[in-house]
Amino acid sequence: MKLITVKNADEMGKYAGDIFAEAIGAKPDIVLGLATGSTPLPLYADLIRRYEAGGLDFSQVRTVNLDEYAGLPGTHEQSYRYFMDENLFRHINIDPANTHVPDGCAENLDDECARYDALIDGFGGIGLQLLGIGRNGHIGFNEPSGAFSKGTQTVLLAEATIEANSRFFADPAEVPRMAITMGIRHIMLARKIVMVAGSEKAGIIDQAVNGEITPLVPASALQMHPDATVILALE
Ligand code: PGA
Repeated sequence: MKLITVKNADEMGKYAGDIFAEAIGAKPDIVLGLATGSTPLPLYADLIRRYEAGGLDFSQVRTVNLDEYAGLPGTHEQSYRYFMDENLFRHINIDPANTHVPDGCAENLDDECARYDALIDGFGGIGLQLLGIGRNGHIGFNEPSGAFSKGTQTVLLAEATIEANSRFFADPAEVPRMAITMGIRHIMLARKIVMVAGSEKAGIIDQAVNGEITPLVPASALQMHPDATVILALE
């Protein structure tokens, strides 16, 4: 696991943008695993800039997002489908049919999890996976627990996660308690992983990179990945 430190969020976006641009250039139909949250925003802004400058073509790119709130339709402003459309997809030449986010409103969430796993397997796995990290070490919505998750699954969100995410909701009571998340298995099978983190995550990044490999710090699994890079912004 390689740890890169950069000055600030802008530099993080550019550094990660270089990795994404190179990967898309090398394989125009690459499968990108994408993440939501505040931290990836400078990367998405960087990718949009490169696209607008004519340097990046998303016409064949396929994407699978890590997670989605249960019970929020894609039209809800706090859904992760909405986030991706607003912050990346509608600004680039990606085919919307090639963008995938778990359906948090599926009638049967277990079937939706199985469908999502089959979708990723059908793609032959993920070429480049972007991750943020929660203050509790979660990746996607894989919260600290007694065992590493495997496939896509429904999860109850940790109190710390609900509290962190309540900043986006007018009423904290509106924050969904449940979500669908890709499991650690497909994340670990990605051929390359890039994790982005701001300075407020420095403590948990230290644990994830240098500490014990434990499902109590889900991001610590990345220590076992052959090509994982963590980009930490220092301010
Ligand atoms: P953040 O979320 O980028 O908004 O801090 C990251 C996460 O919880 O995975």
